[in-house]
Amino acid sequence: MTDRYAVVGNPVAHSKSPAIHARFARETGQDMSYVAVFAALDGFEAEVARFRGEGGCGMNVTLPFKHRAFALCNTLSERAAHARAVNTLVLGPDAIRGDNTDGVGLVRDLTVNLGHALEGRRVLLMGAGGASYGVAGPLLDGHPAELVIANRTVSKAVELCEHFRRIHTHAAPLAAAGYEALGGRAFDLVINATSASLVGDMPVLPPTLFAPGAFAYDMVYGRVTPFMAFAVDAGVDCADGLGMLVEQAAESFHVWRGVRPDTQSVIAQLRAS
Ligand code: ATR
Repeated sequence: MTDRYAVVGNPVAHSKSPAIHARFARETGQDMSYVAVFAALDGFEAEVARFRGEGGCGMNVTLPFKHRAFALCNTLSERAAHARAVNTLVLGPDAIRGDNTDGVGLVRDLTVNLGHALEGRRVLLMGAGGASYGVAGPLLDGHPAELVIANRTVSKAVELCEHFRRIHTHAAPLAAAGYEALGGRAFDLVINATSASLVGDMPVLPPTLFAPGAFAYDMVYGRVTPFMAFAVDAGVDCADGLGMLVEQAAESFHVWRGVRPDTQSVIAQLRAS
C-alpha cells in the first residue's frame, strides 16, 4: 500500500513541498504520496488527527503551526526539544513523534551547497523568533568563533541566548545584541531569520557589518529581499532560502524513509523554474 504523507499549514497552497517530495520519492523508488493539507487556524490538531486516522505516516508542519505541533507530540527528538518547535511529525499507531529539520537544512545548504564552513567564523543571526530557535542549535554545532543573535526586541535575543546556554554544550560563544549595537562589528556570515523580508522590510543595519569575503543568507526564498539587496549593494555574495527548503525536506524524508535523496538536482530545477 502507498504510504501517505502531507504538509499542513495556513496558507499552504503555495507550498513547494509536494513537488519536492514527489521528486525525492521517484528518484529513490519509494512508494509514497505527499499532498498539501490546509488547516483552519483553530483546526490544526483536528487535521493532524484526521490524517493520522486515515493511515497517514507523517507530516511536515509549516507556518503558523510549528509551536502547536511541538505541543501536540508525545515524544520529541533532541533537536526539536531544543528548538521548541516541530516541522516533522512521525505518526505512529501509539504516539506522535516530533522532529525539527530546519536547522540541519540551513547548515547543509550553507556548508555543503554553498561552501561556507561555520567553524571559526563570526556568525550573526538576525531575529529571535521561531525561525532563529530552529537554527541556533545546529549553527552552534558547527563551532563558529562566535554566534551573535541580534533582534529589534533585545530581551527576546537575551532569552534565546539563555535558553541555548542552558541546554547546549557549544553555547559559549553566544551573545545577544540590538541592531544599533552592531556598529563597528564585522561578521563573516550574516543570516536573516526575521520575518521582515516577508513584508519587504529589513532591520536597520550598519554598512560596516560585513567582513571582507563575508556571505549573506536570507531564509526567505523566491524573492530578492531588502536584506539581499543591501548585501549586493555592499558587494557581498548572498543566497535566499531555497536550498534550505530543499535540504530540510530531504532531512524529513530521511527521518521517514531512512533514505537520503539527492538535493542538488532538485534545487537546480526549482531555481530554473
Ligand atoms: P517566527 O516565529 O515565524 O520567527 P516571530 O516569532 O513573530 O515569527 O518572529 C519574527 C522575528 O522577526 C522577530 O525576531 C521579530 O523581531 P521582534 O522580536 O523585535 O518583533 C523580527 N521582525 C519582524 N519584523 C521586523 C522588522 N520590520 N524589523 C526587524 N525585525 C523584525
